[in-house]
Amino acid sequence: MNKLMIVLIMLCTVFLCCCSKKNDATTTTGTTTSGDTSYNTLYIPPVLTGTTFNLNLSKTSKQFFTSGTATNTYGYNGEQFWGPTLILNKGDHVSFNVTNNLADTTTVHWHGFHIPAKMDGGPHQKIAPGETWSPNFTVMNNASMYWYHPHLHEATYKQLTMGAGGLIIIKDAAEAALKLPRTYGTDDIPLVLTSRRFNTDHSFDTTVNDYGDYSLVNGTLYPQVSLPKQYVRLRMLNAEIERAYNLGFADNRTFYVIGNDGGLLDAPVPVTRLVLGVGERVELLVNLGNDAVGTTVALKAYNANQAFGFPGGESAQSGALGSLLNAHDFKVLNIKVAAATASAVTTLPTSLVTNTTLAASEATTNISTAITAGQGGSEFAFDDNNYNYVTINHTITLNAVVKWTFVNSNIFGHSIHIHDVQFKIVSRSSGAIAAYEKGWKDSFYLQRGETVSVVAKFEDFADSVNPYMYHCHFPNHEDAGLMGQFLVTP
Ligand code: C2O
Ligand code: CU
Repeated sequence: MNKLMIVLIMLCTVFLCCCSKKNDATTTTGTTTSGDTSYNTLYIPPVLTGTTFNLNLSKTSKQFFTSGTATNTYGYNGEQFWGPTLILNKGDHVSFNVTNNLADTTTVHWHGFHIPAKMDGGPHQKIAPGETWSPNFTVMNNASMYWYHPHLHEATYKQLTMGAGGLIIIKDAAEAALKLPRTYGTDDIPLVLTSRRFNTDHSFDTTVNDYGDYSLVNGTLYPQVSLPKQYVRLRMLNAEIERAYNLGFADNRTFYVIGNDGGLLDAPVPVTRLVLGVGERVELLVNLGNDAVGTTVALKAYNANQAFGFPGGESAQSGALGSLLNAHDFKVLNIKVAAATASAVTTLPTSLVTNTTLAASEATTNISTAITAGQGGSEFAFDDNNYNYVTINHTITLNAVVKWTFVNSNIFGHSIHIHDVQFKIVSRSSGAIAAYEKGWKDSFYLQRGETVSVVAKFEDFADSVNPYMYHCHFPNHEDAGLMGQFLVTP
């Protein structure tokens, strides 16, 4: 997105507003879905448990539409899109065999994990075609939902778009002690939010676009899920290219945020809307106990009327920077209420876990990073440097508590992710930090014109050779160089 493009978008907007005739995709995925009866059953990825995990990435295909040709995709372990959900226990030592059956090099990154840099699966831990990479580490993170995905520099956009990725659920004793829904696929539902643009032959458009035209949840187009008449837990990941989701329910019901990227909150936070940026996860409790069996309620993205700079708020409906879903409120998931289960959770917990704080005043080191360039045809950069494999942008001493400030006096919103750590957001120049994002985070939405500071302790793993990454989690921005690397040294 550069200035020239913005002018073009504005011109297109004028054109579209004057003469738009909604096409089929807008009608079915856009604002007029209430009469839509042709839902597909939401796919729930299978789980893998234990302490040794084998993952094989290969080409496959998936029938997204009811007629016509299947779409060529990538999946792990024979999944038609995406991969199995790995269930890990905090404290376990786990090992992986990741085999690359593609014709291209890949990597697998364990997003959100606190692990040694050489196990991290960033751009340096390449897996050549036909090779197997076998990292192992101890699970130190709190119970929450994390994810794995390719992270090869300049290949992340394509491999993610083709479907490579998967969820990881970590369990721990503190979470297990709470009365929370936790039957995977029944009252504890993973939701991977994304979208794709299709060519006329149903292949994915893998030219670099910012947005897809069709909303997908767990790879399901027009998804519907039956959920029991009780409190249900929704674990959401924004696995988009750029689009942020302003999520809410069609009847504006209050729902409760119980967890952020890296663990549970102190207590449930009631909301009616929440913004989820790319790479972020959130855990929600929604009460369906007052809904009649057989009724439906839609989870929607209220993305219409966003200020410019909100990714997916642009009004262009086509082109590299537009989408049929942009600037629309669109249905993400249709929920159909079913009978309660035998062991239903029917009350909201008043408190969850006791989180330690990490305040700006505890910082021993300050880092400031500016979003630069991205205009006049240049690619977005951190501090005017586009990523390369050899430049170490920052060196952090082991056990440093770092206040890391991201300054976005630039033209568009981004989503920032730092490897190795879970941090606390300590300031947002746009206003107060929402109560629902006061937990442990590894990714955050950085608005256009905003400065955000986070505080993290870089402990346990020092390595003077292998760096960790920090980057915009829009894979197109990351591939184009909006990424840097840091060493944690003894
Ligand atoms: Cu989800 Cu650096 O990645
Ligand atoms: Cu970005």
